[in-house]
Amino acid sequence: MIEKRFSAAAETYDRHARPQLTLAQSVVSMLPEMYPEQILELGAGTGQLTRLLAERFPEVPIDAVDVAEKMVEHSRDKFRRFPQINWIVGDAQTYRGGNRHPLIVSSSALHWVSDLRETCENIFRSLESEGTFALGMMLKGTLKELHDLREEIAPEKTPELTLPSYAETEEALEAAGFRIERKKHSEEQILYADAKAFLKAIHEQGVTGGKVSAGNAPLTRTELSRLVADYQENFTSNGGVLATYETATFLLSK
Ligand SMILES: C[S@@+](CC[C@H](N)C(=O)[O-])C[C@H]1O[C@@H](n2cnc3c(N)ncnc32)[C@H](O)[C@@H]1O
Repeated sequence: MIEKRFSAAAETYDRHARPQLTLAQSVVSMLPEMYPEQILELGAGTGQLTRLLAERFPEVPIDAVDVAEKMVEHSRDKFRRFPQINWIVGDAQTYRGGNRHPLIVSSSALHWVSDLRETCENIFRSLESEGTFALGMMLKGTLKELHDLREEIAPEKTPELTLPSYAETEEALEAAGFRIERKKHSEEQILYADAKAFLKAIHEQGVTGGKVSAGNAPLTRTELSRLVADYQENFTSNGGVLATYETATFLLSK
């Protein structure tokens, strides 16, 4: 069953990375009672999930991996007061680290990889037997309003890649060998002040970028103005505009 939520305006205005933070919180709250010796995080980015992990597991060493070198440099500096976090440049699809890990986590990141199945297999191999993998995923329905509008306005510029669906994600995890202990599928509608603020926010998140909001060619000024105007007209609600985020969290074991 897909869980639907609606967030009130006051809560969400100007909190650009809120859907990612909500997902990271959901990943951490899904973890069982445990105190692992070490944690591997894949696609750590600006460290929203990393911070939650450091709070939940004080002093446990965390290898925080991200493919973007600049992101890693930025986070290493931002988290310099957390000596237990080791910031590493690496690709989740192939990264192994040294020994196998007792806990691997990832949130709002694996929808970016080019081959989800291969990535899941790599993570499975990197996990200790009896180990835990906690995953938060952004799914296909995320920003569907924007995606549909783009297709209408500039079909030839619509992004080629789409986010994985819930079923595809579950399939990739099971095919890799994981046992699904718990799963949660959610849809949340976030209210932004207006269409311009929404587009600015997703641009600043730099998150769902590539696959959803950005196409294979930039929109012209005219196309962009039409996108803003049409979004405003079609998705106005409760004094703002709505955007959908479809997510899933999985608690997995080996
Ligand atoms: C939206 S951020 C999520 C950051 C953080 N996990 C959070 O919950 O806020 C996605 C991050 O995934 C990283 N990423 C994308 N593809 C990756 C890959 N193949 N391997 C490792 N990191 C990747 C991006 O560089 C980006 O920093």
